[in-house]
Amino acid sequence: MSTNIVWHQASVTKEDRRKRNGHHSCILWFTGLSGSGKSTVANAVSKKLFDLCVQNYVLDGDNIRHGLNKDLGFSAEDRTENIRRIGEVAKLFVDSGQFVLTAFISPFAQDRELVRNLVEKDEFIEIYVKCPLEECERRDPKGLYKKARNGEIRNFTGIDSPYEAPVSPELTIETHRYTIDECANQVIAYLRERNFIKGESENGV
Ligand code: ADX
Repeated sequence: MSTNIVWHQASVTKEDRRKRNGHHSCILWFTGLSGSGKSTVANAVSKKLFDLCVQNYVLDGDNIRHGLNKDLGFSAEDRTENIRRIGEVAKLFVDSGQFVLTAFISPFAQDRELVRNLVEKDEFIEIYVKCPLEECERRDPKGLYKKARNGEIRNFTGIDSPYEAPVSPELTIETHRYTIDECANQVIAYLRERNFIKGESENGV
């Protein structure tokens, strides 16, 4: 626990940054099973936002676990700490006037709620990347489901560790029913609907 620390007020505010950027800033929190398509869709959305000149950045589970969170494993406690840290980092991105797209399994509803409560009401958009376990297992892009079934990996989400699906996410996208591009467009359409972004990209999307 740190003591004797005092919050320093920034000279450039979040509102100043949003005004300069000409768009809102918030967390697009993608949650879903391993292999459901979180990172792929988040990156597709990121590219579309980039083309619309919307400042954004993707935080991805596997990447963050190579650096910031490399001390964490997959026990329930470590997953909770993983999400807590990502939540704090994501909040900084919101403060910097950007969209931050996070692609973590984030299997526990309570952990996602904690992040939701870290920021303002219109700054946390939960996106459930819905895909049946059988389909994720069929895709098995990293060969991890096979290892989990063989007992080579323990506490694997969906196999011997739970995934708590969101009850009322802002958005649900179904990657087994739509293409990546269609899923990404659904996210962009939602952001337009909420007036979080404006304008058209060069290719009209
Ligand atoms: S979370 O549960 O703490 O949110 P996170 O999204 O950071 O997980 O990392 C998930 C990624 O780590 C998976 O996509 C997979 O590549 C890898 N991984 C390794 N071991 C496990 C495991 N036991 N359960 C889930 N994912 C695992």
